[in-house]
Amino acid sequence: MRDEIHFVGISGSLRRGSFNTQLLNSTLDLLPDGVTMEIAGMGDLPLYNADLETDGLPESVRKFRETLSRADAFVFVSPEYNYSVPGTLKNAIDWASRAKDSPLSGKPVALMGATQGMWGTVRMQIAFRPIFQFLNMTPVNKPEVLVAQAQSKFDASGHLADEPTIAIVRQQLAELKKLAKHTKIVKELTTENN
Ligand SMILES: Cc1cc2nc3c(=O)[nH]c(=O)nc-3n(C[C@H](O)[C@H](O)[C@H](O)COP(=O)(O)O)c2cc1C
Repeated sequence: MRDEIHFVGISGSLRRGSFNTQLLNSTLDLLPDGVTMEIAGMGDLPLYNADLETDGLPESVRKFRETLSRADAFVFVSPEYNYSVPGTLKNAIDWASRAKDSPLSGKPVALMGATQGMWGTVRMQIAFRPIFQFLNMTPVNKPEVLVAQAQSKFDASGHLADEPTIAIVRQQLAELKKLAKHTKIVKELTTENN
């Protein structure tokens, strides 16, 4: 049904108390009407190794890809590690990107990041651009969500508590819903006409 939109979210940090995971969890309360969302964990994935594909996909990879395949669109929320995408998240994306039935291909994606520093993950977000291009994903271009000084933006129970940040997250999720609907309609029309 084109009116029902489902997001799948992934946090790029495995850290207990991660600000990025707190930000991702906070999006669950900020979704536009008509959107559902689930969060996919990447902590159990092995390091990517093509031999594991030929020997039989590990169960953790199969489950991860299955969860991702339910998505009309993705929400990636990630820290910046050494001016780039964390290796753990890149590894998860590498697993999801394989084969013609990649659950990422052709799907819209919203990217957010939180850091305790002043730059709000801008370099990680730039590093993601060519990755999205190769994956044939459509990123939300505006607004960008860069949460700097994250230690001051969440309450004691880990909920996003900064009104300007909440407003911009809502806007980005609304843009993602629009892109997802558009993508779904085009896919349905293309299927009908073939
Ligand atoms: C390996 C590593 C590399 C990091 N590199 C950067 C960086 O390039 N730029 C930056 O602003 N912060 C960097 N940081 C700090 C993280 O942004 C900060 O620890 C952030 O809170 C991590 O996200 P999390 O709270 O979701 O775990 C780095 C942290 C680690 C552990």
